[in-house]
Amino acid sequence: MKRVLSGYRPTGRLHLGHWHGNLTEMVNLQKDYECFFFVADWHALTTDYQSPGDISFFTQEMILDWLAAGLDPTRSTLYRQSDIFQVAELALYFGFVTPLSWLERNPTYKEQLRELKGRELATYGFVGYPVLQAADILIVKAEGVPIGEDQLPHLELTREIARRFNYFYGDFFPEPQAILSKAKRVPGTDGRKMSKSYDNAIFLTDQPNEIRSKVGLMVTDPARIRRTDPGHPEVCSVFSLHRLYSESGLSIIEEECQKASRGCVECKKELAERIVSSLAEFQEKRKQLEKKPEIVQAILSEGAKKVQEIADNIISTVRQRLHLRND
Ligand code: TRP
Ligand code: SF4
Repeated sequence: MKRVLSGYRPTGRLHLGHWHGNLTEMVNLQKDYECFFFVADWHALTTDYQSPGDISFFTQEMILDWLAAGLDPTRSTLYRQSDIFQVAELALYFGFVTPLSWLERNPTYKEQLRELKGRELATYGFVGYPVLQAADILIVKAEGVPIGEDQLPHLELTREIARRFNYFYGDFFPEPQAILSKAKRVPGTDGRKMSKSYDNAIFLTDQPNEIRSKVGLMVTDPARIRRTDPGHPEVCSVFSLHRLYSESGLSIIEEECQKASRGCVECKKELAERIVSSLAEFQEKRKQLEKKPEIVQAILSEGAKKVQEIADNIISTVRQRLHLRND
């Protein structure tokens, strides 16, 4: 069975962007692949090194979110990046073969430098983010990586690093492929991409009233000032979310908006109720899991044991290839 791997940074609770981005995809992949899903706590330090206080808390929360969403530890291996020290060693070796120019042209790096101002992100660790990510993926020789589109440049770098390693030291690593989810871009409440760092997210654990008030405050079609103005659903974030939640009634919503026979308040209320009911099952499952938080520890230590064994084998071959060992 082919290996698939993906990771999330524990910098906050999971939100609808994760859910539609690739979380549901990850749940489905469990049927057909050998899956590795890990909490990228070292990666969290690349941006949050100045105030890392919450990383272990959010690691715990993330595992609970994952379990409630349907990731199943009897089918998939769930683990924490910092439990696998071999990842750091592999990243060190990858660092030797990765030209700086590859990292500096990375669009995600440039975007984040722009968006997360004031965090002093021009660091060695941050520019090296994709090198660490390559080590995450190749430490288990994963061939498929379920990710969102924003991560494609990183995966391309992983392939380039694998190729360069193989060229210097002989064929060893696969060139992993992206498994892109079909989901569209999920807008946050301000219309930008939903992201915890933009403070515009609807979290999977938000209670019904929080969801209602967040949706109520969403930006809509800026040209629609009065209730009688015809709307333009194609530029409205509320409508983008309706695309994900109101499949059956979508054309009616579109028409009513364009004809101004639907008001934004009503439109938002309808959306909020759909989101609330779609999260009900997840939230119920999560509530049950919260009653036995000790299972997270057990899952993480079992995951660590399994991945360390695989990683040890990879690292010992890599050391040989690099002429650090000859046994
Ligand atoms: N870069 C990913 C993100 O920010 C997280 C991540 C780290 C990852 N290592 C990975 C994803 C390996 C897939 C595979 O969301
Ligand atoms: Fe957006 Fe709905 Fe208002 Fe149209 S009616 S602008 S789709 S919120």
